[in-house]
Amino acid sequence: MSAQALLKNVLNGSGTHESGLLMTPYGSVNKTCDEFWTAKQRQLHSLHYANSYRASFKPELPDFFIKKLTNPGDTVGDPFGGRGTTVLQAALLKRKGLSNDVNPLSERLAYPKVNPVTVGELEERLAEIDLSHNIDLTCEEDMSMFYHPETYRELINLRNYLRHHRDNIDRFIEMTALSRLHGHSNGFFSAYSFPQISIPKSNQAKINKTRGAEPDYREVKSRIIKKARTSLKSGNIEELRSWGRHQRLTTGDSRNLMDWASESVDLVVTSPPFLNQVDYVQDTWIESWFCDIPTEDLENKIVQTPDLEKWAQFISDTMTELHRVVKKGGFVAMEVGEVRYQGELLNLDEILVNLTASKKYNLGQFKVNEVLVQSQQFTKLANCFKVTNNKLGTNTNRIVLMEKI
Ligand SMILES: C[S@@+](CC[C@H](N)C(=O)[O-])C[C@H]1O[C@@H](n2cnc3c(N)ncnc32)[C@H](O)[C@@H]1O
Repeated sequence: MSAQALLKNVLNGSGTHESGLLMTPYGSVNKTCDEFWTAKQRQLHSLHYANSYRASFKPELPDFFIKKLTNPGDTVGDPFGGRGTTVLQAALLKRKGLSNDVNPLSERLAYPKVNPVTVGELEERLAEIDLSHNIDLTCEEDMSMFYHPETYRELINLRNYLRHHRDNIDRFIEMTALSRLHGHSNGFFSAYSFPQISIPKSNQAKINKTRGAEPDYREVKSRIIKKARTSLKSGNIEELRSWGRHQRLTTGDSRNLMDWASESVDLVVTSPPFLNQVDYVQDTWIESWFCDIPTEDLENKIVQTPDLEKWAQFISDTMTELHRVVKKGGFVAMEVGEVRYQGELLNLDEILVNLTASKKYNLGQFKVNEVLVQSQQFTKLANCFKVTNNKLGTNTNRIVLMEKI
């Protein structure tokens, strides 16, 4: 079945049914809409909230599937690791974890969360780092619309230090500094900006102009310490770091998880890019700059396509690789959302279910057990099958649960 046929199948309505059954070419699949986990914010370990990340899922999502489908000591993987939500929740629940992402930024964000340090260690280290070296800022990238020159000098010094110092304390400092690069409050290093997206320089200049303000001085070390205190406040640090050796992070393509052994994973909890809904390269350009990650490289590697055919092929190839690494009887919980496609609102869970049923794409290697739609009180029924109140993006979690057969 081609992607166009998949699309037609879904848009014609054969994908949905009022009773909560999704009709597929090989039978029906239960689609349950409920509040499976709390809609409240920030209920799990504080380390989960150490960084913002585009299109990250709430930690309650991996928490739900890990508890439901695995036991302590089992292995949980995420081929699209992002900020490391799955691997951290796996560690907190004493599961072994594998996290992969094609963007090296993911490893920079996720590793320190599963190898945390104490505030004391961090304070001691920061006291040793000299951020006052004189730097010729004219030789550096122009970031004057974001940072006061003194803040920028400190940031460049920190970046230079981190290029050569990489123990767990340094890496925790880096992860925390990454979370402070831009945002709206005084706790960030930048002038008033967006916390979740690195906006273009020209947009930042416009914001400054509208607000009639230039970036003011923001001391770097104290802001890192303050944020680290918040990230570490749930505790459990000793336990987490002794378990850290069971968590492995890789940087590569989801279609070729070469460091993941065959038949080694009990459960995958993951969320791929939804077509081109998010620009993972542009939206993190300041973080990439801070970490010396070349964005031109990323443009070619990150899959963010507006073409449903290409997306379907990409997901299908990823599923083939997941089939290799998942144990027989193991599970994949793949979260997708709804996107606007050719003027229609498309529920990608329906595409995924049809894809999984399609021989061309998946060779019937996974069986869809059920589709779960996490829906909050106010959106509950309206959003379950065809979203009516959401014109632009995703506001539900649609999880296709598959079993390796
Ligand atoms: C929806 S986000 C995942 C967010 C994650 N669940 C979290 O909570 O942070 C999708 C991720 O897929 C990554 N990605 C895009 N193309 C990829 C590819 N070909 N292989 C592996 N990862 C890829 C992006 O860099 C992005 O981090």
